Amino acid sequence: MINGRVFVTRELAPQVIQRLRNEFSEVDVWEPFGPPTPTELAERTAGCLALLTMVSDRVDAALLDSAPTLQVVANMAVGYNNVDIAAAAERGVIITNTPNVLEETTADMAFALMLAVARRVVESDADTRAGNWGLWHPGLFLGNDVHGATLGIVGLGTIGSAVARRARGFDMRIKYTARNRQPETEAPVGAEFVPSLQDMLGQCDFVSLHVPLTDATRDLIGAQEFGLMKPTAYLINTSRGDVVNTDALLAALQDGAIAGAGIDVTAPEPIPPDHPLLQQPNLVITPHLGSATHATRGRMAMLAAENAIAACSGGLAPNAVIG
Ligand code: DGY
Repeated sequence: MINGRVFVTRELAPQVIQRLRNEFSEVDVWEPFGPPTPTELAERTAGCLALLTMVSDRVDAALLDSAPTLQVVANMAVGYNNVDIAAAAERGVIITNTPNVLEETTADMAFALMLAVARRVVESDADTRAGNWGLWHPGLFLGNDVHGATLGIVGLGTIGSAVARRARGFDMRIKYTARNRQPETEAPVGAEFVPSLQDMLGQCDFVSLHVPLTDATRDLIGAQEFGLMKPTAYLINTSRGDVVNTDALLAALQDGAIAGAGIDVTAPEPIPPDHPLLQQPNLVITPHLGSATHATRGRMAMLAAENAIAACSGGLAPNAVIG
């Protein structure tokens, strides 16, 4: 038994909480649906050995300083841009993530957004529910084909390559750009490496983003990049909102620089209810649901719990990104 407390910042599946209760002498779970405020997070983390966080919880130097007993932050996400990694490293706090359990599910979501925006699924669903299904007309809600189109993948990591595998089933031509060419990953999916993002953008009907948020990828897609895309092309973002400049996206959708976008992430996140992006009919938007299936969220939560347990038991946390 680990003699210490873990604070879990959201209610998780009972079997995950039970697993933690079996190992930690104290398990504190945040019960409200909404996240703890930074003050509440600091209050509940004080005195803990472990903290199990979500992607929307900010783990910064101030939080770490308010919890000097903290040994591990187990983030329930593959991305960890919500954590100040340098501050954690300086204080010797282990940070873990949840790789290899959510990539296929997130790739499904990228494809769902691609199909939904290109075939106008959400727009036509809303119109039909509003009682506007009058006579059938050959020009009603025309969209664009996904099959046979050219897909540009930005970042051919585990999620990007899972998207590429799906694209093969749709007979798509696949291009990708990344910091380095990845011959072993590109060969099985038949993806063509394009060294420059700028060169790739104009060649694609769909551009799907699969990079982590770092200083190098913040605002990767801005006004200049939208200007290089085809006016018939679509942008798909299931990575992080800050990879795309929101004002530039809005302008591109309003001015017809691109045909549409499917986004699961925004900057800011959550998007304010009165944000003009929400008025754009050529936008399909979902609230950061990339990994949101029963099975995958269950696996992520259990993996985060296992990481917290391992780190506090003196073992190696299986998914330490630093520590
Ligand atoms: C991740 O794992 O980084 C996702 O964005 C969280 O759902």
